Amino acid sequence: MDDYASLEKQARGRIAAAGDLAALEALRVQYLGKQGSVSGLLKTLGAMAPDERQAKGPAIQALRQAVADALAERKEAMEAAELEARLAAETLDLSLPAPEAPKGSVHPVSQVMDELAEIFADMGFAVASGPEIEDEWHNFTALNMPESHPARAMHDTFYFPAEVDEPSGIEMGRMLLRTHTSPVQVRTMMSQGAPVRIIAPGRVYRSDSDATHTPMFHQVEGLVIDRGIHLGHLKWTLETFLKAFFEREDIVLRLRPSYFPFTEPSVEADVGFALESGRRVLGGSGDEPGHGWMELLGSGMVNRRVIESCNLDPDEWQGFAFGVGVDRLAMLKYGMDDLRAFFDGDVRWLRHYGFSPFDQPTLSAGVGARA
Ligand code: PHE
Repeated sequence: MDDYASLEKQARGRIAAAGDLAALEALRVQYLGKQGSVSGLLKTLGAMAPDERQAKGPAIQALRQAVADALAERKEAMEAAELEARLAAETLDLSLPAPEAPKGSVHPVSQVMDELAEIFADMGFAVASGPEIEDEWHNFTALNMPESHPARAMHDTFYFPAEVDEPSGIEMGRMLLRTHTSPVQVRTMMSQGAPVRIIAPGRVYRSDSDATHTPMFHQVEGLVIDRGIHLGHLKWTLETFLKAFFEREDIVLRLRPSYFPFTEPSVEADVGFALESGRRVLGGSGDEPGHGWMELLGSGMVNRRVIESCNLDPDEWQGFAFGVGVDRLAMLKYGMDDLRAFFDGDVRWLRHYGFSPFDQPTLSAGVGARA
C-alpha cells in the first residue's frame, strides 16, 4: 500500500513540474499508457487471489484515478496559461492613427453627375441610360435628322465601318459612337411610354480636340413628357436646377432662340456672370456693366416628329428636353480651365480636384459641400 502512495506522490511531483503539453503527454503515457506503470499494476489484479484483489483493487483504481485527475488538471491550467499568453501578445491598439496609405479620389465628373442626380431626384426625375455604341436611327433619324439632314454634319461623328449583309450585298445601317445623350430620349419614350421624367448622364463622342473640346466628353440629358407641358416648365426647371447646382440664388438665365432638329421651338440658355479679378463668377444679369452672358446649354420643346417616331401621339403628349455638358458644369463650379486635364489621369490633378468618397452630395448639406 505504501508503494501506491509513493508512486502517486512521485507522479504528482512530475506532473506539477512538467514544462509543456508534450512533457505532460509523455507522463500520461508513462503512467497510464498500455505499458504504463499504473496500467501494469492494474494488470496484476487478474492473477491475485480474491481476498488480495478485494483489498488492493480499490487502492490501485484510486491511484489510477488520482493520476488521471492530476494530469487533466495540469493540462487545463497549461492551456489556460497558453491562451492568456496569446491574448497578451496579440493586443491591437485601436487608438493608433490609421497608417499613411495612398488614397483614391472621386473624379469631379463623377461628383458632378452625383450632384445632378441628387438635384433632379428631388424634382421627381429618375436616372436613365443608353448605349455609347449607337445606331444611326436612334442617334439621328428618330431625332428628326434624316440621312441627308445637314445637322448630321455638325456632329463630327465617329462611325464604325459599314456592315454589308452577306447574301444580299445590301449595306446595313452604320453603327457610331453616340454624339449626344439625346438618343436616350428616344429609347426611354419607346421603352416606357409616357409620361416621362428622366435625366440621362453619360459619355458622348465627337471628333474634336482643343482646350475646351475633347473627343470624349460628358453630357446630361433631361426629358419631361406629359400632358400640357410648356416652355414655362422648362424655364422653371432649368432655373431651379442651376440655382441648386451653383448654390446661388442670384443665377440669371437668358433664353435665346436657337435651332435643334429635335426641338421646336429650340432655346439656348445663357447664364449671367461677373468678372472678378479676371475670373468668371456666375450670378447676376449679364447686361449689367462689367457682366456678360455665357452659353450653357441647349434645350427646347420636344419636336412632335420625335414624339411620333417614338410611337406616342403628339396631340396628347408634349414635353421639353435639354442637354448640358457635365465637364463644362464641373469647370464652372470648381474652377478648372483646361478640359484635356480631366482625362489625363494625372494623380496630382486628381489629388487637387478630386473628392473624398465621403463627400456624398446631399441637398441638405448643399450639393457641392467639400469636407
Ligand atoms: N443634343 C444637343 C447637343 O448635343 C443638346 C440638346 C439636347 C438640345 C436636348 C436640345 C434638347 O448639342
